[in-house]
Amino acid sequence: MTVSRTPRIVIIGAGAVGADTAYTLYLRERAPDIVLVDIDAQRARGEALDMQHGQALAGGSRVRAGNYADCAGAAIVIITAGAAQKPGQTREALLERNADIMATIVTEAERYMDPETVLLIATNPVDTLAQVAARHARRPASRVIGSGTVLDSARLRWALGEALAVDARHVHAHVIGEHGDSELVAWSHAHVAGAPIELPAAQCEEIARATRNGAYEVIAAKGHTSYAIALSLDRICAAILNDDHAILTVSTHLDGAYGIDDLYLSVPCVVGRAGIERVIELTLNADERAALARSAAVLRERIVQPVT
Ligand code: LAC
Repeated sequence: MTVSRTPRIVIIGAGAVGADTAYTLYLRERAPDIVLVDIDAQRARGEALDMQHGQALAGGSRVRAGNYADCAGAAIVIITAGAAQKPGQTREALLERNADIMATIVTEAERYMDPETVLLIATNPVDTLAQVAARHARRPASRVIGSGTVLDSARLRWALGEALAVDARHVHAHVIGEHGDSELVAWSHAHVAGAPIELPAAQCEEIARATRNGAYEVIAAKGHTSYAIALSLDRICAAILNDDHAILTVSTHLDGAYGIDDLYLSVPCVVGRAGIERVIELTLNADERAALARSAAVLRERIVQPVT
């Protein structure tokens, strides 16, 4: 008999991304039980209490501080813990420190997680850390997902919506590859209502550049990013919990698709209750194929180093 449990989402890391993700899930009532875990237990407690104080004015979700044991029976465990980019710092610069943190967290969470739990990685550099997480996880790679370029695709769709005076939710465009400096826009598949994007090439290049550098711009202005990544993580959680079969450019373990083996990077995937259901293989043009190969090479170079 399957035990029906209260769907729970556990967030490990109560820094800006973890706390804003908890708050987004809470406001959108994504799950009835949202748990914040942090090495600084006081911080997790304070963030949860601050949200619960608004319970009478919010919805039906509950946010609480917890510990790794709460991973038992969780539908999703999100990992946001680790050092974040400083102004001007690349995501790659965080790798050595955050890889050790990721290995430790996944090993500890695996002491409690059920086989069905989906592990969702947001800590940067997210593609490489999703690969580190998959190495230490005791679950198929399809249940170890990186937030990847879901956020970059959202930044791109916003910029195109502004340029075209169209609701960003009706702009279909994908950023693929690394969540980082080598990412690329699959322009040959970008469209609005099935019509190709009618913008000058120079404007498209500027939009792709601004998308690629979006985090640097926000970090320079406010010190970190958190709201748009929180919305991205909420969208991925919705696809899993509602079994949406949604198409999202999450970071996934490629095993031959796009001619890429044994590497995490972002391409359009069908996401549902079981995590990654399948990879959508776009027919890319020659420039896009070359750019994706370059992005894969950047990530492979990173992963072959003695990363934990
Ligand atoms: C950003 C961080 C989440 O792109 O990498 O805002």
